[in-house]
Amino acid sequence: MNRRDFITTSVAGLALLPETSAQTSAPSSARRVYSMNRDWLFGGRKTADCTAVDFNDSTFTKVTLPHSNVTLPWHSFDDRDYEFISIYRRHFRVPESAKGHRVFVDFEGAMAASTVAINGHKFPEFRGGYTPFSFDLTPHLNWTGDNVLAVELDSSERADIPPFGGNIDYLTFGGIYREVFLRVVPNGYIENVFAEPQNVLNTDRKVVVRCYLEGNGGLLTVELRDGERVAATVSDQVGKPGLHEVTLASLGDIKLWSLTTPKLYDVVVKYGTDEHATRIGFREARFTPKGFMLNGEHIKLRGLNRHQTFPYVGAALAARAQHRDAYILKHELKLNLVRTSHYPQSRHFLDACDELGLLVLEEIPGWQHIGENDWQDLSVRNVADMIRRDWNHPSIILWGVRINESHDNHSFYVRTNKTAHDLDPSRQTGGIRYLYNSELLEDVFTMNDFGFPLREPNHPLYLNTEFIGHTYSTKRIDQIERVAEHTLRHARVHDQLASDDRYAGGIGWCAFDYNTHGNFGSGDRICYHGVSDIFRLPKAAAGFYKSQCEPNEEIVLETAFNWSSGDHSGAGGPGIVPVCSNCEHLKVYIAGSLHGEADPDRKAFANLKYPPFMVDLSNLPLDPWGDLRIDGYIGGKVVISKSYSGRGMDAKLLVEPDDVALFGDGSDVTRVVLRVADEFGNTQQFASGVVTLTLEGPGEIIGENPFGLVGGAGAVWIKTKAEAGVIHLTAKHQYLAEQKVEITVSGTSAELV
Ligand code: GAL
Repeated sequence: MNRRDFITTSVAGLALLPETSAQTSAPSSARRVYSMNRDWLFGGRKTADCTAVDFNDSTFTKVTLPHSNVTLPWHSFDDRDYEFISIYRRHFRVPESAKGHRVFVDFEGAMAASTVAINGHKFPEFRGGYTPFSFDLTPHLNWTGDNVLAVELDSSERADIPPFGGNIDYLTFGGIYREVFLRVVPNGYIENVFAEPQNVLNTDRKVVVRCYLEGNGGLLTVELRDGERVAATVSDQVGKPGLHEVTLASLGDIKLWSLTTPKLYDVVVKYGTDEHATRIGFREARFTPKGFMLNGEHIKLRGLNRHQTFPYVGAALAARAQHRDAYILKHELKLNLVRTSHYPQSRHFLDACDELGLLVLEEIPGWQHIGENDWQDLSVRNVADMIRRDWNHPSIILWGVRINESHDNHSFYVRTNKTAHDLDPSRQTGGIRYLYNSELLEDVFTMNDFGFPLREPNHPLYLNTEFIGHTYSTKRIDQIERVAEHTLRHARVHDQLASDDRYAGGIGWCAFDYNTHGNFGSGDRICYHGVSDIFRLPKAAAGFYKSQCEPNEEIVLETAFNWSSGDHSGAGGPGIVPVCSNCEHLKVYIAGSLHGEADPDRKAFANLKYPPFMVDLSNLPLDPWGDLRIDGYIGGKVVISKSYSGRGMDAKLLVEPDDVALFGDGSDVTRVVLRVADEFGNTQQFASGVVTLTLEGPGEIIGENPFGLVGGAGAVWIKTKAEAGVIHLTAKHQYLAEQKVEITVSGTSAELV
């Protein structure tokens, strides 16, 4: 197998194994893929041409990819801090076994324009920060001694490269922020494979496999595998390279890929002595006049938009952080769809969507602005590069082939649509627009409709791709009425979407708060548009999304308010406030006595299966004041009970790592949440204070240290070094008890030296 990443092992999809060169290639194959993520030398800002072989890089800093060209505060920084040309160098020796083979370097993503040189030979600049690029190093290699790969990376907002040229409401950051590999292949090799399951719902289902072959002809064998079991195979003698199509038929018993059982298969292609594997899933995904159908079943799409950026380092976090985001969307926010606004995102994120059963709308880079012809050519290339990278992901159901919220441009969008349809006839296209009467060249009418009530669907295939966002920017610590209203606005939109099958569903703006330019957002370079904050910590509105799952998946009860007597304009309690729950009935106790009961508000939310409950907590007596307890009932039985402190005191500091076992590969990473909580574990919304962290062992802290809590919480990330051991993290707060956590770091992975 030559999958270049980890293998997932846990049910949650979060326990990852590191790659090793042994894992990346089948022993029978001549292909070898070597990780080149460690031991880069980073020279910071470019002061001279660093591409010459004898350039003195002795003062450069050793770094590991994914890498951000600068580490930043989590807000209130200047984007010009990362908008510069930086220089990277990587020395390596070509493995003995590579002799007589072709050797490529594969960059998965570097922001935003890369001039790459090998041993002083410069390749043409690659323009684009979101799609992969490769160079054939073969003729330029030193097969017996040191080789030097140099990269001059322009991370400024260059007007000639999408999405730049106008204003954009997000930051792109800088650096070689995704992985790099050295790929050794025989002279006849597989360049790409598109394996398209067809007739998925019928017994004559098959997989049409388009193999893009290079170099000598040879024997082509394609297998469908379920783990080690070969489910079907087909062989063909290839006379001349190029596109070669074969069909896998008589597949036997096949399990469909679905939201609850996202079953995956491997398609293994052998061509001469080369071998390449890709993962697929059998599912039929169609937007129809009656909404979206997955495997013939109607599914109302409930999604949020995701920007790929994190605090401190932009998008430069390794696979585990990408997986965690997908996990949060699927299992904490209970979504069935995510839009990769506004560009192709990490393959690790998409792999996680495949594994977890989360549908994806993926789109090309762009935001409102369309450049001149050259720019448009690059954008059309982005369509092709995105699809050629991602066409095998069963989670992807729609290609976004318009610049987000741009004006019409007939000839340009004829090209983007044609490119998508030619390369991948199996998927429909969408083009995210904000002009209701704009020209429709795509299959699905994908509309950012920020108004309420929503517009009537004006096309039989209609998907709302953004709502709420800037129209009701809300912070985790905002005043009680705003937080409640933010939650209800999301609920109202989904209620209307649920009222009519012609709405395929909706994708709210957005999942996580994100860094932006000074002319957008809240004045600190953040758009507080998320239902979760920039650290991925839930706001009240997250509770609405969560409460839409079935109780057999999880029983949910989330308050959309802070338990207090005087934070509401009316005082005497929080007012009449939402509780988001999939229970049938609630009982509310204050200071141990029954205060009231509530049923789902089916009047205001007639179409939602699990409407919010409006609980009357207004005009409360201030004495006795005490804890709030809410019990949730299903079938007459208490199935969940939650308590909130009435003491108004910080009870404890919590230090919560997402993972306590990491790999010593130099890039593995986990989030550590820092929270001040009441005695029941609820975040103390207005707790402040400073948390000082000390780390011992093979890791480093990515983030601010000391960390100033905002709204009682925040997070840093812990990144491993390339060694095994135990990381001891100690967190000190001014007046709460010190906390310690341990993270075990196991083995290191193989790396090209
Ligand atoms: C939309 C845009 C998004 C974001 C959002 C804020 O118009 O497509 O990128 O800026 O507004 O609500």
